[in-house]
Amino acid sequence: MEKPELLQNTLNLDELEEMARSRLPVQNFDYFAGGAGDEITLAANRQSLRNLRLRPRMLVDTSNLDTSIEILGEKLPSPVMIAPMAFQKLAHERGELAMAEAAAEHGALMVVSTLATCSLEEVMAETAGTSKWFQLYVYKDRGITRDLVFRAKEAGYKAIVVTVDSPVLGKRERDMRNNFQLPHGIEIKNLLEHGLKDFPATRGESGLAAYIAGLYDISLNWKDIEWIAGLTDLPVLVKGVLRGDDTHIAIESGVRGIAVSNHGGRQLDTAIASIDALPEVVAAVEGASAGAGKIAVIFDGGIRRGTDVLKALALGAHAVLLGRPLLWGLTIDGARGASRVLAIIDFELRNAMTLAGAENIEAITPDLIAGSGRVQ
Ligand code: FNR
Ligand code: LAC
Repeated sequence: MEKPELLQNTLNLDELEEMARSRLPVQNFDYFAGGAGDEITLAANRQSLRNLRLRPRMLVDTSNLDTSIEILGEKLPSPVMIAPMAFQKLAHERGELAMAEAAAEHGALMVVSTLATCSLEEVMAETAGTSKWFQLYVYKDRGITRDLVFRAKEAGYKAIVVTVDSPVLGKRERDMRNNFQLPHGIEIKNLLEHGLKDFPATRGESGLAAYIAGLYDISLNWKDIEWIAGLTDLPVLVKGVLRGDDTHIAIESGVRGIAVSNHGGRQLDTAIASIDALPEVVAAVEGASAGAGKIAVIFDGGIRRGTDVLKALALGAHAVLLGRPLLWGLTIDGARGASRVLAIIDFELRNAMTLAGAENIEAITPDLIAGSGRVQ
């Protein structure tokens, strides 16, 4: 009974990282925790969120506090969603199935990665009642890409999230040093039938980087996003946009949502912190949406506190994706651990909303941020 007690005593998400580190093989921890290059963007994601100051409203009755949202037709109890993250069996033997269980317990929306270590059908079967989106990586072989989109629709996924910041992998030196490889028995299950379940053997290199260099389409461009949007009646989102002009092109290409993200600092090092890019994307969406209908804006990168969620929503995001902390929870105690992470962030968000005088998500407005120029 050591594990649950340990978890109960954990006060915050950063403490979980330290606990998980001591339980994981070095290559797994480094893959989860690491970023590209000098890890400047990885640190900046946190630093920029920490540097924002709040302007709380006083004496607002928050006795009926409501954190629920509606996004692309989904009603969710919380704006905190589960980021797509590859290879969850590196954290826990039940991998994505355990993550899906935690998601179901909280009614949280889970985005399942193309590079999952359980198949997209298995993950859906585990918790069919809860909404899930599928994250798509575009393979050079368009037959594979089309097949993944059709399988996701068939299995009951409600949206396709195309990751656009990864034509190649960022230069992740921890993974190069560790010669990052998938241990025996851990496979890219969605690609089993295409014979692409393993990394190529590498030396002094990341096996994942080699896999992606061999198979992903470096020629990917906005025309392909139009093609994907035309393949399916599911809403298509793009993940990894950091600029206003790209936001306009995305909307013209038929996407229904933008995930503002630098991939957790794992791709282009020294890229702008996600929270610093958010206002530009929000302004572009507001400028465009008259004819385009409601475009969902999702934020990720460095969310570790309820106040971080509040800040992202105040700056115009409709929901956030939580990444690494969920892997730490999964490592420590599987579904229960990931569930504890969602419970901690939920408690902190409610606490922050109460103290900032926001009784519901609509009340989380830009004037809550000091220096936003919107003083009321
Ligand atoms: C990721 N991320 C990611 N994104 C994606 O679109 N497809 C993927 O397969 C993965 N895989 C992945 C693995 C691991 C170990 C991590 C840490 C991240 C990026 C992820 O969805 C998200 O953008 C960031 O993790 C968010 O930042 P934080 O919350 O981890 O700081
Ligand atoms: C990563 C890829 C798989 O960040 O998205 O590791």
